[in-house]
Amino acid sequence: MRKLILSALVATSVVAAAGTANAASGAVLTKPGFSWEGVFGQYDKAALKRGYQVFHDICSNCHGLKLVAYRNLSAVGLTEDEIKAVAAERELPDVPNDEGMISPRAGRASDKYISPFPNDQAAAAANGGALPPDLSLMAKARVGGPNYIYSLLLGYEDEAPADHPIPEGKSFNHIFPGNAISMPPQVMDDLVTYADGTKATKEQITHDVVTFLNWAAEPELDQRKSMGLKVMLFLAVLTALMYALKRQIWKNLH
Ligand code: HEC
Repeated sequence: MRKLILSALVATSVVAAAGTANAASGAVLTKPGFSWEGVFGQYDKAALKRGYQVFHDICSNCHGLKLVAYRNLSAVGLTEDEIKAVAAERELPDVPNDEGMISPRAGRASDKYISPFPNDQAAAAANGGALPPDLSLMAKARVGGPNYIYSLLLGYEDEAPADHPIPEGKSFNHIFPGNAISMPPQVMDDLVTYADGTKATKEQITHDVVTFLNWAAEPELDQRKSMGLKVMLFLAVLTALMYALKRQIWKNLH
C-alpha cells in the first residue's frame, strides 16, 4: 500500500515537472512570478492598466481580442470616456439601412474588441501567411499559460544557430515549437512610455502585457479569490461556534 502511494506521488510530481517545460519544444519556461499567483493573489491594478496600454499600442495592430467587450475595460482602469474613445477608433459594418445598404459605423462601448483585420484571410495575408491568433484566451490555451507567453515574447535570438536555419521572413525563437515563428520580435526597452512613470524595460513591458492577457482570459479571478477567502473565514467562525455549542450541550454529561 505504502509503495502504491509512493509511486502515485512520484508519478504526479513527474507530470507536474513536465508541465513546466513546453510540451513541443522542450524549452524551459521562465517564471517571473505574477501578483495573482497563490491562494490570495490578486491582479496588480497598475500592471493591468500598463499591460492594456501595451496591448492597445502594439499587439492589437495584429491580434484580435474578440471575447472582451470595450466596456469590460473599466476593470483595467479605463474611464467611461476613454472606453468610448478606444471603441470609436475602429469601425464595424452597421445593420442594413432602409435600402439594404450596409455602411460602416464606429465601434461602441458595448461592442467586442474589434479585430484589426476584417477576416482571417486578410490577417494571414498581411503576416506572411501566418494568422495572428486571437489573444482572448491565449493565457489559457498554451501549456504554461502566462509563463509561456512571457517566455515566448522574450525568447527571440538575433541569429538562428548555424545548425538550425530559419526560413526567410521568420524569426528564431527558442520557446516557440519548431523555433521558426512568423511573429517578428515585439518587445524592446522603451517601446512604450508609461503614463505612471514606470521604467519600460522589455521585461516590464512583457510582464505587464501578460498580466493584461491573463485578465482577458480570467477576468473573474479577483472575485473568485476574495469569495474563497470569505468562505474560509465563515467556515472557521462556524466551526468555533459549533464547538462552543457542543461543549455547552455536553457540559453536564462529561
Ligand atoms: C506584426 C504583427 C504582430 C504583432 C504586432 C504582434 N504579433 Fe503576436 N503573432 C503574430 C503572428 C503572425 C503570429 C503567428 C506566429 C506563427 O504561427 O508562426 C503571432 C502569434 C502570437 C502568439 C501565439 C504563439 C503560439 O504559441 O502560437 C502569441 C502569444 C502572441 N503572438 C502574442 C503577442 C503579443 C503579446 C503581442 C504584443 C506585445 C503581439 N503578439 C504582437 C503577429 C504579431
